[in-house]
Amino acid sequence: MKNHPVIAAFQQAGQGQVFAFFDQLAPAAQERLLAEAAEIDLAEVDGLNRTLLAKNAPAGATLDGLVPAPYELWPEHGGDPQAWAKAKAAGEAALRAGRVGAFMVAGGQGTRLGYDGPKGTFPVTPLKRKPLFHVFAEKILAAGRRYGRPLHWFIMTSHANHAATAAHFAEHEYFGLEPGRVHFFRQGRMPAVNFEGKILLEAKDAIALSPDGHGGSLRALERSGSLDLMQREGIDILSYFQVDNPLVRCIDPAFLGWHILGGSEMSSKMVPKAYAREKVGVFCRQNGKTVVVEYSDLPGAVQDETDARGQIRFCSGSIAIHLLDREFVRRMATGATALPWHRADKKIPTVDATGAAVKPEKPNGVKFEMFVFDALPFARHPVVIETLRADDFSPVKNAEGVDSPQTCREDQIKQFGRWLAANGAALPPGTLPAVEVSPLFGYDEDSFAAAWGKLSPKPAVRDGLYLE
Ligand code: UD1
Repeated sequence: MKNHPVIAAFQQAGQGQVFAFFDQLAPAAQERLLAEAAEIDLAEVDGLNRTLLAKNAPAGATLDGLVPAPYELWPEHGGDPQAWAKAKAAGEAALRAGRVGAFMVAGGQGTRLGYDGPKGTFPVTPLKRKPLFHVFAEKILAAGRRYGRPLHWFIMTSHANHAATAAHFAEHEYFGLEPGRVHFFRQGRMPAVNFEGKILLEAKDAIALSPDGHGGSLRALERSGSLDLMQREGIDILSYFQVDNPLVRCIDPAFLGWHILGGSEMSSKMVPKAYAREKVGVFCRQNGKTVVVEYSDLPGAVQDETDARGQIRFCSGSIAIHLLDREFVRRMATGATALPWHRADKKIPTVDATGAAVKPEKPNGVKFEMFVFDALPFARHPVVIETLRADDFSPVKNAEGVDSPQTCREDQIKQFGRWLAANGAALPPGTLPAVEVSPLFGYDEDSFAAAWGKLSPKPAVRDGLYLE
């Protein structure tokens, strides 16, 4: 067995340690280890070892020539209302023509939330405790009905949560969506290496593999056949969002219109940062290209800079909502240009020379990840538009404090309260009552207004009101 071609290739690449315990393993475990090893692109790992792991490798992003990126102002903040109206009409036309698919990345491990199971199964709405997946499903279902074209929904999972994700959808009958329009696929994995570039074992019979980052979605879309499916279905734009943000307008006609009319291959939404050190990526321009610089790469002093008006200079927060053209994704996945890798030093459970488990107390190795926003500098005419945080962004990331289930619940209630008030409903004074609006009733300001207008008699706004 030791002269197996995969083992030989690993030995030749200086990664023979992966098979150190091979002879002690039962045949089934040997097969598993070989299958994991065959997933690894040794040349890619070697390239990363030579670059990101090199002693003189630059730490993080280079900040040379970095300036804030321009963006389309929200109408109430000075944007041109006519241009926004035109964009919305163009987006609606694209939706009616069936050109748009929804795309959610849900491969993350959700470690910070401390929740066991796929993050999308986390109950999030104020009254009905609908899981995140349920909220998005109903928004997508409702948008499909509104524009007369049911949408396809692409969902990227990881090896760890794929089966549980698919099972959750099956158990809930796809939340009313046609199963044939919901497409799950797994993202790729990358091996962790120690600081000498040697691939680590997680156990004698398992390689330390982890998801390749949300940037892995571009190749996973291609590999899974999703791009071909889109092509067959006449879908040329993907509306990208993260599993952690139930407020997202996952189908937003005005955003689509800005993207289409701007001839953009990749577009993004921004919100002005709430405070200088907010943990979000920042849209910038560098060498004539639009880029996102992750908060961890932007020195505190730069984050704190203010402009002549005393406003935060690098204010353009990325909320990880994008539009991607199908053929742009294909080019990024298969062409000569590829996303860069980022290194993250981590504590990686592994085994020692005798095969005994080691739980490190400080970082002992490196994981590699790609970020989807690194595609922006490769896109033609990228467009960044402003949106209101209250309408698009309230993620569940931490168990407590900022971006927690509690803040997200409050933000949902505030949004429903705003929609009600804007349509003439009488809100009791003081604290907003805990109300919930099903996306099937209204999933954005417009659809809510239409449904509320037709409702007769109108219910009183009180704790426990659920509109469906
Ligand atoms: C991310 C962005 C940050 C942005 C913020 C907005 C990065 C590095 N940073 O931060 O710029 O301001 O969101 O909320 O992305 N995922 C996968 N596969 C992976 C890793 C992640 O599918 O391998 C998915 C997760 O399921 C989640 C999303 O990507 O839906 C975000 O991942 P996470 O690692 O939580 O990003 P943040 O650090 O919160």
